Amino acid sequence: MPHAKPRLIVIDTDPGIDDAIGILLALASPEFTIAGMTTVAGNIGIETTTRNAGRLLAFAGREDIPVFAGAATPLSRPGPEPLNLHGKDGIGGADLPDPTKQPENQPAVAWLTELLLNESAGTVDVLALGPLTNIARLILEKPEAANRIGRIIAMGGVVHEAGNVGPRSEFNLWADPEAAAVVVSSGLPLVLVPLDVTRQVRATRDFAEALSATGMPLAAMVADLLESYFETTTHRESRPLHDPCVMLFALAPELFRLEDLRLTVSTGSTEEAGALTIGEKGTLVQVAMSVDGSAVLDLLAAKLTAI
Ligand code: BDR
Ligand code: CA
Repeated sequence: MPHAKPRLIVIDTDPGIDDAIGILLALASPEFTIAGMTTVAGNIGIETTTRNAGRLLAFAGREDIPVFAGAATPLSRPGPEPLNLHGKDGIGGADLPDPTKQPENQPAVAWLTELLLNESAGTVDVLALGPLTNIARLILEKPEAANRIGRIIAMGGVVHEAGNVGPRSEFNLWADPEAAAVVVSSGLPLVLVPLDVTRQVRATRDFAEALSATGMPLAAMVADLLESYFETTTHRESRPLHDPCVMLFALAPELFRLEDLRLTVSTGSTEEAGALTIGEKGTLVQVAMSVDGSAVLDLLAAKLTAI
């Protein structure tokens, strides 16, 4: 049977241990053609997230994929102090090579604009793994290009559960709530993958050990990343694979259940910033609300061990 044409994607990211796993999954998936990666400050500052994107590509032998540095600070408030959730290098001390290629000179939003205007409308998807600053800037500054996005699939927010930075706030939306509000209210095709789902996709030590035992390079690197993920988070039994869920949804939407929800994003006080509210005034968004956790973990392992 002939393969379907690969989908053209941009990965917008702040690597980030779980970003790194999502990026390696995308690199292992022939279903995607990665046009480029745009970076954003989030898990750590922009210089380090940009460098980490380059290090991942160097490791995978894919420095043909360009990296464009994006926003260093949120749209309209001072950046949060780096939380260094993912270690001092933002990526858990992973043993990744230095990039041999510099990031491109063109800023992320300028490149995204050019790409979207050059490709047929609706053919480029944006897989968003960090704060939504770059995408919001594109929408605000270059709406004619933003309107040509096929679909944005973004890890962010929490609907019914507790947040991970505030009672109702998830990190990516909290880190730049004004940007999140722009993206959610834009009416562009958007699938949000919130904590409610990503917490159902949990890597255990057994999962990491099984990947490591394959001896395959991408799988072994993901096992190392998972090991540092366990270490940076007080040696818990399992860790949620937030960002890889974006790629997993793009690869196998049938393993997720979507709900159409009318959402608004709070741009209020620090504690409430980024909180999602369901209500009539909100914008209709597709939200992944449940997932077959073991099936997507199997898919992740299968992809990482296939090359
Ligand atoms: C999100 O926050 C970051 O720390 C992770 O990389 C993920 O994108 C989860 O809330
Ligand atoms: Ca991230």
